[in-house]
Amino acid sequence: MNRVLVVGSLNADLVVRTDRFPAAGETVAGADLVVGPGGKGANQAVAMARLGGDVAMVGAVGTDGHGTLVRDAVAAAGVDVSRVAVRRGPATGTAVITVDAAADNTIVVSPGANATLAAADLPSFDGVAVLTLSLESPLGTVLAAATAARAAGTTVLLNLSPFGPVPDGLLESTDVLVVNEHEAALLGEHPVGRTVVTRGAQGCVVTEHGVRTPVDALAVEPVDTTGSGDAFLAAVAVRLAAGDTLPDAARYAVRVGAYAVTVDGAQLPAVTADAGERFGLVAGRS
Ligand code: RIB
Repeated sequence: MNRVLVVGSLNADLVVRTDRFPAAGETVAGADLVVGPGGKGANQAVAMARLGGDVAMVGAVGTDGHGTLVRDAVAAAGVDVSRVAVRRGPATGTAVITVDAAADNTIVVSPGANATLAAADLPSFDGVAVLTLSLESPLGTVLAAATAARAAGTTVLLNLSPFGPVPDGLLESTDVLVVNEHEAALLGEHPVGRTVVTRGAQGCVVTEHGVRTPVDALAVEPVDTTGSGDAFLAAVAVRLAAGDTLPDAARYAVRVGAYAVTVDGAQLPAVTADAGERFGLVAGRS
């Protein structure tokens, strides 16, 4: 039993690179618009498949071209998309993204069809080793997924991005919390016994029931940091499903995160022989 399930968002990413972000009320020039597949859930699912995971995704897109783009991209990576619903009516989720010369980004998400994902869309969790969740899907559905997965003995990984109010009971149904330093500070005290706090170029810190294990990052020249947190979470999930300890999974995930920031776009590309050697990664599907 090492199947991984993602319940999450699928977006079309509308990306413009610019030297620097505009201030409020300011206009700056950018490069050509690039439209690509994204969404935190979709990015996680693609990265998991590319790292060798047996992955299925639950989500929703519209009937528009953006929906076809992102659903096809996830399927092409080798993810089971039979539970990615195609809704008549709402547009596919979109994310308006700017990436600056330092490879940082700003992201504004319009949820579209993601907002229609309901508890009724959830499958049985029998045979699912690990579930990943973020807060880009309706909170009631996220809570229902975590509760049902916990009851089925599935390990629940929760990412609190984009950060917002956390529904009552969600953290109590979470086995591993994966957050960045900013989200960790906003959350404060919480009941989850196992956490990974990502620290960008400083690596991450794993805490298991009070025992702290710092993990160093790999030094790389970043090109685009969009989706690197999704790739990190995906790597932790795939390695936990394969039987790794959480510190070992996090050691692998920092290398995946390093690879992710050296490539353009939100979705992890196939792990080439070169990338495998440079970052110490095992290739999954292409
Ligand atoms: O984490 C990066 C993702 O956030 C982008 O792909 C965008 O769609 C938003 O969901």
